[in-house]
Amino acid sequence: NEGSLWGGRFSDGPSPELQRLSRSTQFDWQLGGYDIRGSRAHARALAAAGYLTDDELVRMLEGLDDIEARWADGRLQPRPEDEDVHGALEAALVDAVGAELGGRLRAGRSRNDQIATLIRLYLRDHGAVIAREVRSLIEALAAQADAHPDAVMPGRTHLQHAQPVLLAHHLLAHAWPLVRDLERLRDWAARSDRSPYGAGALAGSSLGLDPALVAAELGFSGPTENSIDATASRDLVAEFAYIAAQLGVDLSRLAEEIILWNTREFGYVTLHDGYSTGSSIMPQKKNPDIAELARGKAGRLIGDLTGLLSTLKGLPLAYNRDLQEDKEPVFDAVETLEVLLPAFTGMVATLRFDTERMAALAPQGFSLATDVADWLVRQGVPFREAHEISGALVAHCERHGLELHEPSDDECAAIDARLTGDVRTVLTVEGSIASRSGAGGTAPSAVAAQRVHLAERLAAL
Ligand code: ARG
Repeated sequence: NEGSLWGGRFSDGPSPELQRLSRSTQFDWQLGGYDIRGSRAHARALAAAGYLTDDELVRMLEGLDDIEARWADGRLQPRPEDEDVHGALEAALVDAVGAELGGRLRAGRSRNDQIATLIRLYLRDHGAVIAREVRSLIEALAAQADAHPDAVMPGRTHLQHAQPVLLAHHLLAHAWPLVRDLERLRDWAARSDRSPYGAGALAGSSLGLDPALVAAELGFSGPTENSIDATASRDLVAEFAYIAAQLGVDLSRLAEEIILWNTREFGYVTLHDGYSTGSSIMPQKKNPDIAELARGKAGRLIGDLTGLLSTLKGLPLAYNRDLQEDKEPVFDAVETLEVLLPAFTGMVATLRFDTERMAALAPQGFSLATDVADWLVRQGVPFREAHEISGALVAHCERHGLELHEPSDDECAAIDARLTGDVRTVLTVEGSIASRSGAGGTAPSAVAAQRVHLAERLAAL
């Protein structure tokens, strides 16, 4: 069992079937850089505890530098018999510095604490990349809001016209969940800021190595508190997958609206040619594929999360080989977001809004009926009655094919004496929107304040 990490008690090497099943280098090879960083820190901890001389440490670090260079440019590749990235890189080190020195590195560590550390390092780096991309998307949404300070649109509930709102207010409504996703990524990073290295297989190290040294060198605030937890838990990986899935869902909800807005029936937006696709048969087609891929990939991201949670459910402590199945889903989630986000942001940044059409649609569907009720309340009518009166006005208009502001004073009086012609002062989209000036509302003044708060929340991240 030449070159393997565990030959001693075996009289036969692993069967080819087992090797094929067990091998993870096809997906964990990308963790090689982190593995080598961990090895460097571990070598220093070994030297600090007297297990390597100064000269041995220097040769070991040189060997690791050499392996890192060859790993980074692709000259070093896993061999078919390598089970995982840890074993492959240890074998490469033995080749580079000899078995006598190379064989000393494994003292006091296990692949179990190694992999638990490496996955945190990987997610920390990619979490930062994803956070930058999410921030760009938020900025693209905010820039579109800033570019359309006065544009109005039908606000909807149940996808039906409800009350008119500012386009900027609606766009910022998509930005806030993304701000919370950014905050989730920040909180995740704080929670993951502990190094499992030194936990060993499960029970900790007996060699007097200082896990704090390794933790500091790898940029963690300290070592984990419990070696069993350190090697057996994957809640932090699942939490990352949740944040990725939530991001996917948040993108997907905006994507669905863009798909609707881009239909002939809505006609709210035109997509930039560079961010839309054609049809191989229908020459006129211009399709919102980025938005559709975002919607589709949300399903995939949810699958990554549920797959991972299903793997974890029912695992006894401590390490079980099942845990190797944590990597592909979370790698997939990371890779999915890293290709999706830049395209999605480009699509949002280049959207063109037909603000005239949106303004023409905004008052339709009796979307100002609440304003009639609110106006009556301001005249002293109890809201229950105001709601009834306003509903009767809607019914009257529906019967006679009128918009809310069109009935005469007499028609209004016939519905209810308290419904005077003065109500027409609030029956404009602009008036309705301006009246919703409470904090968080759609009035231009409130949206301007909201915009400042958004910038502050982003600046604090
Ligand atoms: N490659 C494994 C993983 O990803 C780490 C190896 C631990 N293997 C073991 N037999 N203890 O989880």
